[in-house]
Amino acid sequence: MTSTATPFSLDGRRALVTGAARGIGRAIAAALNRAGAAVWLTDLDGPAAQAAARCMGAAGGGALDVTDAGAVEAAFAAAEATLGPLDIVVANAGISTMNRVVDLSEAEWDANMAVNAKGVFLVDRCAVRRFLARGTRGVIVNTASLAGKVGAPLLAHYSASKFAVVGFTQALAREVAADGIRVNAVCPGFVRTGMQEREIAWESTLRGMTPDEVVADYIRQTPLGRLEEPEDVADVVVFLAGDGARFMTGQAINVTGGVYTT
Ligand code: NAI
Repeated sequence: MTSTATPFSLDGRRALVTGAARGIGRAIAAALNRAGAAVWLTDLDGPAAQAAARCMGAAGGGALDVTDAGAVEAAFAAAEATLGPLDIVVANAGISTMNRVVDLSEAEWDANMAVNAKGVFLVDRCAVRRFLARGTRGVIVNTASLAGKVGAPLLAHYSASKFAVVGFTQALAREVAADGIRVNAVCPGFVRTGMQEREIAWESTLRGMTPDEVVADYIRQTPLGRLEEPEDVADVVVFLAGDGARFMTGQAINVTGGVYTT
């Protein structure tokens, strides 16, 4: 019988996604699920992650605060107890707030760093420890941001945390490449999610524009001429997670409709 398997199929793979209750993480989980993987959805909002898993017919899910190393360990253990050994880990959970640096509190800086930078470290460390202990190959995809490639005004704290994700991804990828572990990142642009709705509201206040003017400005900056959808990011994550990307590691891939190309 002729095999119909393609390098883009994730049949037989087992994946865990963080920040998967809504937005980009939810779209990533759904896309991995459609590509054939058994998917475990985790989120700070555990019931919403479980509801999303039921809704898309994924394997399951539960609560996870990515800033808590013990909780990360417990979530991986719960996922593997149900699915078996994980092959794919997507560290997607993130937060953002908008503020000028002169008005930025230490608490705001610390919160962004804790979820966006330390959260990725803790999730990736847990994944790598498990892959190494088993001697198996594994794939990690981290959600960085366009703001992790170019400094974004009103988002200095967020930009700093996402530059950290890009640097960490490159360094970890080189550290574990010889162990058969690939680590890449995606850098989305202006994605239509709850996070973006909040940013539009802040930006319209901070820049004295209407929300419609802010959206029009995002679209004007985007060569492909529209706002980004969560699915635009999710399909790239599926590619990075699969064998089609077998010779890619340490990369931070812009998924921005052409905004910023380096
Ligand atoms: P969102 O706010 O719609 O969803 C984020 C999810 O992460 C929520 O379900 C939330 O409960 C969860 N979360 C927050 N803190 C958490 C924690 N400590 N532990 C576990 N889960 C936690 O945001 P969106 O837009 O889907 O963002 C997803 C990722 O994409 C984030 O890393 C964000 O920084 C990144 N991103 C988003 C862009 C956008 O325009 N929306 C652009 C570039 C990057």
